Order: sequence, then structure tokens, then C-alpha cells
Amino acid sequence: MDENTTFKALVADTSADGGFTRQVEEKRISDLPAGDLLVRVKYSSLNYKDALSASGNRGVTKNYPHIPGIDAAGEVIESSSPDFHLGEQVILTGYDFGSNAPGGFSQVARVPVAWAVKLPAGLSLEESMAYGTGGFTAALCIARLQELGITPERGEILVTGASGGVGSFAVALLAQNGYTVAAATGKTGARQFLLDLGAHEVLPREQIDDTSGRPLLKGRWAGAVDTVGGNYLATALRSIQPMGAVAACGNAASADLPLTVYPFILRGVSLLGVDTSRCPADLRRRLWQKIAGEWKLPRLERLYATIGLTGLDGAIERILHGGVRGRLVVDCSY
Ligand SMILES: NC(=O)c1ccc[n+]([C@@H]2O[C@H](COP(=O)([O-])OP(=O)(O)OC[C@H]3O[C@@H](n4cnc5c(N)ncnc54)[C@H](OP(=O)(O)O)[C@@H]3O)[C@@H](O)[C@H]2O)c1
Repeated sequence: MDENTTFKALVADTSADGGFTRQVEEKRISDLPAGDLLVRVKYSSLNYKDALSASGNRGVTKNYPHIPGIDAAGEVIESSSPDFHLGEQVILTGYDFGSNAPGGFSQVARVPVAWAVKLPAGLSLEESMAYGTGGFTAALCIARLQELGITPERGEILVTGASGGVGSFAVALLAQNGYTVAAATGKTGARQFLLDLGAHEVLPREQIDDTSGRPLLKGRWAGAVDTVGGNYLATALRSIQPMGAVAACGNAASADLPLTVYPFILRGVSLLGVDTSRCPADLRRRLWQKIAGEWKLPRLERLYATIGLTGLDGAIERILHGGVRGRLVVDCSY
């Protein structure tokens, strides 16, 4: 492909007045870093981390101007790897993609071969981005709980930030796998959405934000998927039954963890860390296979809406304020 070929991408940058700008710009292939695979991106998705990257959070993205987007799905248009042929459909997620390397809010991406996963049979490019990092993270959280023997028979599973991207997929995947799910949300309007995804009960988020100061609370949950951190994560850990576990993946509320060691040493509770970007390649491939197979959710369209590159600016503001329900797929053609 001619390195002068142009394409559109959302570019985030600092502005002269100390603010921050985001606009769809024309870029050239030569603007992209070297890599093994050139991919025509069809779809991307919006994650909370993208909103941080797109609004100048230096903990996520060190240098600007920058093309955010930690997810992409598309077709290989150039390959120097024997493992990927022209026209092959791939998913790009994880590693530095979209954080410290140009990402998926773009019609073209160039990446090292290690960042690509072949699109598994049973999943379209669009469906893969309905899951994206958010859905994949939910799947990884559940896989970690299962590794520890947290089966549906053990009891109810709490999901925090339940109406968000990771949360909504966690609710739906847990329910599909036979778990009884308690979905905690701050959105009164999300109740029916969460019941439709298979939640057994929907709790206002204040109910899982205990400020009594008691080191242990009534053991209520067999396990939890926590996407918000802070006192919600601490409350969950203090409310887990003996030998239960919490898979912690997010900090949408806070990065703090106000807690004593008692849940761990008096109840044998486990805190399972989840970092999708460092998920080993082999597990990444296996989990995508599972998502395309036994963990493929019916009526996936319930869980996402679609926007174009031009709709990202407003959507980034919404997700930063916890205002997105389910996931947002980005159609990169407009
Ligand atoms: N570790 C990893 O590998 C990994 C991967 C993906 C995402 N994450 C993290 O997981 C979290 C969720 O990501 P996402 O893409 O699902 O974001 P999201 O769609 O914005 O969902 C976050 C949800 O958290 C709740 N929330 C937001 N602000 C809150 C606050 N101040 N207090 C309490 N609850 C609040 C809201 O749900 P309700 O209104 O329903 O309460 C919101 O919808 C983020 O922190 C993200 O960085 C981590």
C-alpha cells in the first residue's frame, strides 16, 4: 500500500490554551509506526480507558497528538508475517494498542503481529467489537472466579458498575453460565435493562457502599466482579462468604481500597486482579474462542449501540461521567 494513502482517524491533542482537543483528521499511512500487519479497521469500540486516553490522562497515554482506541477489528491489507494472510480478519486489543501506540479510532492501523488475534469462527467483526476489551474483561473476570471453584451452586455473584461496558457483559455472561446475579447500579433507569440481561436482582449502588467501619459484614456473596474500586470493592470484599473471591478490574469510582486484612485471614477471601492488556497470548486466543462459541450471548444487539468516528467526541464525555449503558461500537467508515 502506498505510504501516502490517506485515511481518517480521531486525533486527541493538547491545545495552545492548555486545554485538549479531539477531532477527526486525515492521516497518511506513513504517519503510523512500523509494524508487521497493516489492518483496514472496520470497527472499534469505546472503553472507559479510551476516554481517559482521549482526554489527556498521562497515566494512560504519555505523548500527544495521539490516536486512541484500545480495540479494533478489521482486515489485513499488508502482512510481513507468515501467520496472517491478506484479507484475513483480525481483532487487535491489549498491549500498547491505543494507549501508547496509535489505536483503533482510525480507518487503518499498523501493529506488531503479537497484538493480533485471528477472528474466531462464529463471530463477525462487529460482534467482536460489541465485546471488545470490555466484554473480554468480563469474560476474564468470570474465568478467574471459575478457576477458583466459584461455581453457580456456591451462591449469588455481585456485579458492580453493572450497567457499564464490563458490568453489563459480566451480568449477561454470568447469567448465561447459570449464576444468580445481583447487579448494583447507580442508574435508576437501568433496572429493566439489567433484569433483561439475566440479573436476579438489581441493587441501588448505595447498598454496596458500606460506611459502618465494620471490618466484616454479613457474608452475602459467593463472589463478585468489581469494575468500580474504592469503597465499593472494599464493601464487596467484606461481604464475601468464606472462601469466596472478588475479581477486581476497574476503578471507575476510585483507585483507593479502604480495607483491613480480616476478609483474607478470617474468611479466606481471595482478591483476584484482572489486567486484560497483559493477558497471555494463549489465554487471549482461548478466551476469544470461548466468546465466539459457548459464551456467545444471544441477541447481542441488546448490549450495544453504534456510533461513527464523528460521534466519539460526545460519547467520550458521556462515558467519563458514567453515563453510558452497555457498550458502544464504533463504525470507522464515518
Ligand atoms: N483491568 C482491565 O484490564 C480493565 C479492562 C477494561 C476495563 N477496565 C476498567 O473497568 C472499569 C469499567 O470500564 P468500562 O469500560 O465498563 O466503563 P463504563 O462503561 O463507563 O462503566 C463503568 C460503570 O461504573 C459505574 N460508575 C461510574 N462512575 C462511578 C462512580 N463515581 N461511583 C460508582 N460507580 C460508578 C457506572 O455504572 P452504574 O451506573 O451501573 O453504577 C458506569 O457505567 C474502568 O475503571 C476501566 O478502566 C479495566
